[in-house]
Amino acid sequence: MLFILNFLFSPLPTPVVISLLTVGITIFLWLINKPRPVWPVLDLKKQSVGIQGGARRGAMQQNSELIKCYYSDATTMYEIFQRGLRVSDNGPCLGSRKPNQPYRWLSYKQVSDRAEYLGSCLLYKGHKPSPNQFIGIFAQNRPEWIITELACYTYSMVAVPLYDTLGSEAIVYILNKADIATVVCDTPQKATVLLDNVEKRLTLGLKMIILMDPFEDSLKERGEKLGIEILSLYDAEALGKENFRKPVPPKPEDLSIVCFTSGTTGDPKGAMLTHQNIVADSAAFLKCVENSFYPTTEDVTISYLPLAHMFERVVQAVVYTSGARVGFFQGDIRLLPDDMKTLQPTVFPVVPRLLNRIYDKVHSEAKTPFKKFLLNMAISRKFSEVKQGIIRKDSIWDMLIFKKVQASLGGKVRVMVTGAAPISSSVLVFLRAALGCPVYEAYGQTECTAGCTFSSPGDWTTGHVGAPLACNEVKLEDVVDMNYFSVEGEGEICIRGTNVFKGYLKDTEKTAEALDKDGWLHTGDIGRWLPNGTLKIIDRKKNIFKLAQGEYIAPEKIENVYLRSGPVSQVFVHGDSLRSSLVGVVIPDPDVIPKFTAKFGVQGSLRDLCLNMDIKKAILEDMLKIGREGGLKSFEQVKDIYIHPEAFSIENGLLTPTLKAKRAELAKYFRRQIDNLYETMEG
Ligand SMILES: *[C@@H]1O[C@H](CO)[C@@H](O)[C@H](O)[C@H]1NC(C)=O
Repeated sequence: MLFILNFLFSPLPTPVVISLLTVGITIFLWLINKPRPVWPVLDLKKQSVGIQGGARRGAMQQNSELIKCYYSDATTMYEIFQRGLRVSDNGPCLGSRKPNQPYRWLSYKQVSDRAEYLGSCLLYKGHKPSPNQFIGIFAQNRPEWIITELACYTYSMVAVPLYDTLGSEAIVYILNKADIATVVCDTPQKATVLLDNVEKRLTLGLKMIILMDPFEDSLKERGEKLGIEILSLYDAEALGKENFRKPVPPKPEDLSIVCFTSGTTGDPKGAMLTHQNIVADSAAFLKCVENSFYPTTEDVTISYLPLAHMFERVVQAVVYTSGARVGFFQGDIRLLPDDMKTLQPTVFPVVPRLLNRIYDKVHSEAKTPFKKFLLNMAISRKFSEVKQGIIRKDSIWDMLIFKKVQASLGGKVRVMVTGAAPISSSVLVFLRAALGCPVYEAYGQTECTAGCTFSSPGDWTTGHVGAPLACNEVKLEDVVDMNYFSVEGEGEICIRGTNVFKGYLKDTEKTAEALDKDGWLHTGDIGRWLPNGTLKIIDRKKNIFKLAQGEYIAPEKIENVYLRSGPVSQVFVHGDSLRSSLVGVVIPDPDVIPKFTAKFGVQGSLRDLCLNMDIKKAILEDMLKIGREGGLKSFEQVKDIYIHPEAFSIENGLLTPTLKAKRAELAKYFRRQIDNLYETMEG
């Protein structure tokens, strides 16, 4: 105060005093100024309503009609793209970049033309413009992926994405199951993988490979010898242009994509999704957020999540409907930050694994106690604004603390959706505070296209996955042997609606397991209705769970493999769904251990041997080797183990009377050791 008075009464010239005062008042006003809060349009205490048959529907839904499309002129994936072309007035559509260069864009018309040429080429080569015609796409995220997909849709054909992590065996299975004659792939390496399988006579139906990247003549010659035509995408488009065919647009109920998901056991299952399924799911998203987020032609999203997954397909459907843009990452996840800064996306679909990394990075950078204090203060101040409906990037806390993390995402993100796996409350709270944009959580699975519940705009609470979307109803069904009863608001989550798939390709048995006669999709997840009408996921019907990166894990299958390891007598494989790796508790075999440890020159009681790090390392190495031989994928292998001297038994309550592992009990019993394993892993 004295300071200001001094100023006022000092002999400074009046203009200086006035301007100093103005600056001061501006800063003061900026500090106390807050934007007007945005109130939710929905009563957050009543987010869903009961309907006939014990099911529930989103409270926003006025009538019993489930949403099929958002715009009446965009009822198929083909029409969605044509709408984007129209509303953007042929604006930029697909962007990609070379290292350290700006994004270069293909316009909507260029993409649409190239899709027509490629599609015409496919017809010229004998494919039929029909939803019985399946075309393989085997590529990383890039513009040509979308061009190929659109080529299929333009002529009523069906896209079948293939991806590396499926493994070669699964790819062979899919090619045969879906009767695929043509695969459009990105690199000569992938074409070589396909040709190897042809040579081994594993894939009999393959006739043509269209390649996006340049390739050697020798590859073409090898193809010729095996009876496979290899064509560059460039030549294919030129051929299609010369032999142009008028588009044959699909109907909403036609099949659009077969999305193969790697099951935990057995062969992959091909979920058949129609145009309407995808359009409905994206329409329901638009409906849900329509009062808080309205996409425009200025919006841009970054494509780095696998295009073969439906989450990313739905995001892009929303983008094209709105005439907005998609920029692709360079294909290397380590360069994603650089791509983000260059592209400055406004729409950012994310998975918990990535968000956990952002959270860890910001927290690990606050090293001193003072910085930690400041960070926590900033989170709590910003989050208290979020609770009042104020979401912004220009508070004092943003300037001081959060500018950097916002800038690392390009600085323009205005909506984020996380899905594919559960996310922890602390990470979600942090993001909602730090990023200054709404962060929504979606829950669903491929069989209901992607999402079936979604957080309501304005709801900042965590610990649930929101309310049913406008495209589906949700009901809980009794699971008697697990003690879940629908009358108590608990049970297996079942979904029915316009986003629910048509079954698995040529697999009536698996289809019947997933879809009942009334059209309910049985998800295998156990849910509970909360008093405010939101859904909480509380368990899995079978012993199958997801890791943070969204991979399904069947622990019993993995344990059965590890049991083949000599020194292992019993093993419990555990994974926290908020972590991205597995850990194990191993009971060593007392008969094998002495011989096994003699090699290391260590002796002692079993209890002592269990504590020996060299022995632990040796056992882990043996398990990993057995795991590799047993066909475990790298994410199915344990990252670390704890060796315990005392067997799981019925007496100590860790086995059932039929000698099955009591998984929940085991996890509780070894909680401390499991937490330890995860902590040392993180360090
Ligand atoms: C909904 O209910 C759950 C459980 O009672 C609670 O944790 C959450 O904060 C509630 N959300 C809202 C918006 O009331």
